[in-house]
Amino acid sequence: MTEKHRLIIDCDTGTDDAVAIMLAALHPAIDLIGVTTVFGNAPLTATTINSLSVLDLIGRPEIPVHAGISRPIVRKAMPSERFFKTDTVADPHGTYLDIPRTTRQPASTKAVDYLIETYRAATQPITLMPIGPLTNIAAAVALEPRFAEWVPKLIIMGGGHEVPNMTASAEFNIWADPDGAASVFEAGFNDVLMVPLDATHRALVTDKQCAAIGALGTPAAKATETFVTRRINSYEAMQKMDIPNSAPVHDALCVAALVEPDIITTKRCHVAVETSGTLTLGRTVVDTHHRSHQEPNADVAFDANADRFVAMLMETFG
Ligand code: RIB
Ligand code: CA
Repeated sequence: MTEKHRLIIDCDTGTDDAVAIMLAALHPAIDLIGVTTVFGNAPLTATTINSLSVLDLIGRPEIPVHAGISRPIVRKAMPSERFFKTDTVADPHGTYLDIPRTTRQPASTKAVDYLIETYRAATQPITLMPIGPLTNIAAAVALEPRFAEWVPKLIIMGGGHEVPNMTASAEFNIWADPDGAASVFEAGFNDVLMVPLDATHRALVTDKQCAAIGALGTPAAKATETFVTRRINSYEAMQKMDIPNSAPVHDALCVAALVEPDIITTKRCHVAVETSGTLTLGRTVVDTHHRSHQEPNADVAFDANADRFVAMLMETFG
């Protein structure tokens, strides 16, 4: 058996974060050693409770959850309210996930301290996978200048080159804390994989595939059906996909790419984040044609294999 991928997920647990956590916790090739939470899809208290609830549901309460930062690192709040009413059909997450709510508390050590101390002491490589706003990662870099050196691989769900979702220019995770995101892309992490909407929108899960997953009958399978059904209803109402009655499960594609790198297709580019544009705030500027003459700092995913992605969900949650 080859060495498992040791992984820490930093998340703003909502529905696709929840599928990512379950895929990471249950996949035989992954050792999910910790979860850190940040504001984003819901307030920090809710993203933390949701993360604990998911781990309870799949019988993995021993995986620690460390709560992080509740607002963007510079701004007092996200640049504006989200464009839909929370907890309506337009909201693909809901404040609290539709699963039994945990009675547990997160670990006493806060996320940023946990990340710094875990990577300071690490004797084996641990991939860090932020799948929400990059605020905790930016804070770790600000607090410990060597943090970027200590992290062997950073897999970011975020950004968009031809595909936005929060504004005409930007994707939610980056837009929610553009200053934090900018500092992460500038921090000099050794090995950055960025999985933007250009890739996640090519790994759609259909209503039929969602029902097939649910029919597997395990707690993870039934929860995935609940989460993805909500996402499909929301996307049908707010942002129809190329395939009718389907939805992306952005964050889980990052986990899939960790164990099967060729599930996505990448191009090495320089990526920077706009932090001041009126129309472009939070945009990931992906220099596909090397016009900035800056060294590429990320592998950017532009395509994904939807069949392999759904097959991995079926194999792991069965
Ligand atoms: O834009 C998609 C991202 O925003 C996903 O991580 C989703 O969970 C939300 O955080
Ligand atoms: Ca997320």
